[in-house]
Formats: sequence, structure tokens, C-alpha cells
Amino acid sequence: MYKKSIDDPAGFWSEIASEFYWKEKWDPEVYTGNLDVTTGPIKIEWFKGGSTNICYNALDRNIETGNGDKIALYWEGNEPGSDVKLTYNELLEKVCQLANYLKHVGVKKGDAVVIYLPMLMELPIAMLACARIGAVHSVVFAGFSAESLAQRIIDCKPKVVITANAVRRGAKAIHLKDIVDNALTESEKSGVPVGLCLTYENHLAMERGATKWQDGRDIWWQDVVPEFPTKCEVEWVDSEDPLFLLYTSGSTGKPKGVLHTTGGYMVYTATTFKYAFDYKSSDIYCADCGWITGHSYVTYGPLLNGATVVIFEGAPNYPDAGRSWDIVDKYKVTIFYTAPTLIRSLMREGNEYVTRYSRKSLRVLGSVGEPINPSAWRWFYNVVGNSRCPISDTWWQTETGGFMITPLPGAWPQKPGSATFPFFGVQPVIVDEKGNEIEGECSGYLCIKRSWPGAFRTLYGDHERYETTYFKPFSGYYFSGDGCSRDKDGYHWLTGRVDDVINVSGHRIGTAEVESALVSHPQCAEAAVVGVEHEVKGQGIYAFVTLVDGVPYSEELRKDLISTVRKQIGAFAAPEKIHWAPGLPKTRSGKIMRRILRKIASRQLDELGDISTLADPSVVEQLIALGDS
Ligand code: WTA
Repeated sequence: MYKKSIDDPAGFWSEIASEFYWKEKWDPEVYTGNLDVTTGPIKIEWFKGGSTNICYNALDRNIETGNGDKIALYWEGNEPGSDVKLTYNELLEKVCQLANYLKHVGVKKGDAVVIYLPMLMELPIAMLACARIGAVHSVVFAGFSAESLAQRIIDCKPKVVITANAVRRGAKAIHLKDIVDNALTESEKSGVPVGLCLTYENHLAMERGATKWQDGRDIWWQDVVPEFPTKCEVEWVDSEDPLFLLYTSGSTGKPKGVLHTTGGYMVYTATTFKYAFDYKSSDIYCADCGWITGHSYVTYGPLLNGATVVIFEGAPNYPDAGRSWDIVDKYKVTIFYTAPTLIRSLMREGNEYVTRYSRKSLRVLGSVGEPINPSAWRWFYNVVGNSRCPISDTWWQTETGGFMITPLPGAWPQKPGSATFPFFGVQPVIVDEKGNEIEGECSGYLCIKRSWPGAFRTLYGDHERYETTYFKPFSGYYFSGDGCSRDKDGYHWLTGRVDDVINVSGHRIGTAEVESALVSHPQCAEAAVVGVEHEVKGQGIYAFVTLVDGVPYSEELRKDLISTVRKQIGAFAAPEKIHWAPGLPKTRSGKIMRRILRKIASRQLDELGDISTLADPSVVEQLIALGDS
């Protein structure tokens, strides 16, 4: 199949696409995918001219083939014992009610809807409702602060924001609506007023009476949505009409609105899900849901296959570190997809939290978000999977839409820590600094040679940045921003980001974003942020901070700086360490030498390399001395 997908991509993908419902078939030209900036603008299109709807294909199509009574979603709440389930029929009804409501309030094809919801059923329901009417959803991870949410609202100007009043994670309740209120005040000040905030009352976390309210703008979901009809006409859209935006961090402060369209994304997420997890119709699939995974492999990919999905609201260590395996046994989960950071954190708690559950339903395990270190891989394989479940270590990105390099379970021998080989249709290449492809055993920058159906089509409102960031560094290729090596057997080993992005527990955070939050503090003159190895999170944020003249270092100021970052970006971006820096190592032209800062942060002091090009080499010694204090 791989060979066919490379020799005849148009034929290969058309055959798969034909399994879906298309109101109109696509143009004879199946795809265009110029990835070479030197020969013209980057324009990727798949199944152009085809008219379809991803919500129809995920729900109605499965119902029409007799799966209406199959469970589509199981929801496991934060508190053990709180759960809900929805069949495909019931899910479609809920989606239609919300879709009708959105139409009623004036949301039309092409309009943006921001969704700021935790892991409730209402999150996939909201995405599918938007897709049904051709609205473009923009999900903002519910760990983001008001300022980050506002920034995203200002960028995409939604007609509606959908949220919940609160969520419980572990023992903590988080008042999401307060965060949204602040974000809406902020966006209004910037000239982007949002007229409607549809709020789901998550009464297990907070009663509605305790929620702050703005009459006229705020509406309770439960008061209006159930009144609407449970059937809603589908809006047929072009394959290349936008499906969603998802903001992700890059190496500058401004987040990038990654835009995915409909047809190619649909075909790609469904196919990757099916093969990389060896999906069978009897499977019960459970996934960690952050970010793009919540789109491609909680909502669209699995539902397009008619799968049963378990989503979990809470924290994996609540009430104790066995919660994940409790869920596996409760729902007889067969495919369990998670992140290395979770594996590492559970590993530390000891095997008894795992072995007290049977886990005998498990068949395939999956990992995503960052490179999985071999010791975590082995623990996942031996302890969680009882040495009998293959691990799909799936390498992909928000930008790629779906899996790019991944094992096909059982199809070839695994190597702990390697994502193995490319998926159908994907041609990865490793290039050197000059952009030359390197063959055989090697290490370099990971690029992709040809377009694939799930590729993102642009950065919202900034096609130039799309080309500059991803296609200009190495002409002729899509540049992933990741380093990679290939061993003598052709296996791929991802080595992490090579740009100024830090991967903390699978969350992408731009160093520039953290730096700009730090310098917004009136007593901070300059900041430089680097990633350091972290036992559980993969990477931690390490910030070098220079203070305004005359301001003394203090514990209080340290806490204040950390809280500034939490407030501006979100708690997940809080620096692990603030390192006071009387000066930063800069070249004579004023460029901060992060290479040196990384070495100082990780205490690899004998690997500082050449520091003679610095404007003032003595800052290095000062920094080393202060690092010990
Ligand atoms: C990293 C998450 C190694 C990588 C789906 C990539 C991985 C970034 C893996 C994308 C993996 C993701 N092995 N590294 N299996 N999966 N990454 O956009 O650095 O949130 O560039 O998408 O995560 O993160 P994003």
C-alpha cells in the first residue's frame, strides 16, 4: 500500500475518498501540491470541486449503515462514578440541536465560532455542529489565560464564543466563565465585540447561581439548545472550504492560526486512525485530548470510522494514579492513546497502580506529543501492555492534520523510542543545513517532500508567514521544525524541536511568547528563555531575566514574574526556574546566544563552546556563578 501511495497518490487517495459520501465528486485533478516556493506560491488542494460534509460523514453515514444504536461517546467525569454515554443517533440529535441554534442566532457558512470548553461531550458536539453548518470552529485549549484567549478571539473575530461555567480537574475547580468574561472585555476594547457567549452549565463543577453573568450577551446552553429540532439540514461545502482553525505557537510571539480544510482532512484523519491503530469495529478507543489530538483523534478520525470513543474530563492522578487503568477496565478499552509525559508521571508512582487493574481488554497502545524516551516506552509496553500490545508512536503536528510517521501495529518490528516509518503517501526526508537530502544513516532536519491530504493550507490571515516559516527554510519541502535521525535500518528517531519552540508536557510554547510576558513586568528589563530537560514534562522552561537598573532580586519578584506568565499565557507555560542575569550573552550585533544559555541552564559548562565572539564574554562567568545561588 505504501508503494502504491507513492507511485500513484491520486489513484490511491481517490479510492479511499470514494468510501465517503460526496454530494458532488471532485474535479478530475485529484490534488495540486506545489511545495516549492521558488516556482510559485504554495497552494495545496485535495479533491477540489468535491462537495461534502465531515459531520454528515461522521454521523449520518454511520447511522445509515445501521450503527445508530452503537455508542459513539462515553464520557467519564472527574469524579469516579459520574459518566454519560451517547449513541450515534443521540449524538446526531444533540449536534443538530446546537447547529439549529447557531443558525438561529445568525451563524453562517464561513463564520468563525470560538470554543473554549474542557473535556465535556459538548466539546465534540460543538465542533460537529459547526462543521454541519459550514462554520469554522476555533477551539482554544481551556488551560489558556484570558489574555491568550482574547488574542485568539481578536484574530478570528467569532460571532459566538461557546464555553462552560467551570470545570473540575482533580480536587480543583476552575472558573472558565470568569476567564472568558475577561477575554471578552479585552477583545471589545480592541474593537472586536462578541455578541453572544453560549455557556454550558457544568453543574458538577459549579451551580449556575454562582456564575457571573452579563444579561444580553450570556445565554445558558441548557436554556436554549434543547428547544431546537433534532434534525438539521447539512450545509454541503467544497472540499477546500475551511473546517477549523487551531492556534499554535511559533518562534515569534504571535500565535499562528493553522487552517485546515474539509475533504483532504476528512480522508486523512479517518485513514490514519484506521491503520495506525489497526481499528476494528469492536474496538473501544480512549485518548488524551489536548489540542489537535482532540480534533483529529478524538472527534473526526474515530467517528468517521464509526468508533466508540471514551473521553475523560479529569486528571489521571485523581483520585489516585490508577485512574487511567480504572477507566480502561470500566469501558473495556482496547486502544489507549496518550502522551509520554503522562507515562513518565505514572511510572514514578509505581507499578501497583497499574497491576491492580486487569487491563486485559487492551490491544494497541499509542503515544504522541514528544519523543518517547526508551525507558518510558518499555514501562508502557511491559507494565501497562503486559508485553503484548504494540505501541504506535505517532509523530505528527497541528500543521500535518494527522499521523505522518508511525508504526502500523504488528506490521514490522518496533524499536523503543522510534516512530519507525512514514504513513501512506508521506515522503519524509532528512536534510542538512543547506537543504541537501541526506541518504542512509544520518541526522538532520526533518522535511516532507510532497503534499498529503491532511496538510494545513495556510496560516489564517497570513499566507506569507505560512510560506516563510514552513516552505522557505528548505526550498521544495515542508519543514517540520523538528530534528530527526535515521538509523541503518531506516527507522526514524525524532529528536525534538530545532526552532525556538519548547515542548512542555506536549504543549508547544514559543520562547518569544514567554519572553514577551516576562518583559511586560515593569521591573523586568530583558528576558531570554530556553528549554531544559525535565524528568516528567520532557522539557521545562528556564528563564534568564535581567532587571531594571536598581531593582533588587527577591523571592517575591520571582513569584511575581512567574505569575505574570501564568496570567498572560496560562499555567502550563510557567517557568520552572528564573535565573537572575545581570547581562545576557550577546554577539556584537546584539543577538542573544541561546546556545550558550542552553548549556548554562543544563549545567553543561564544559560544552559552552567558543565564547570569544560575544560582545562581553565576562557575562558568562557571572551567569554561571548566579546559577548556583
Ligand atoms: C512533537 C501534536 C516525537 C514534535 C500532535 C512536533 C513528537 C510537535 C511526536 C507537534 C512523536 C509530536 N515523537 N515528537 N511521536 N508527536 N511531537 O502541533 O516536536 O501540538 O513538532 O501536535 O510535537 O506538536 P503539536
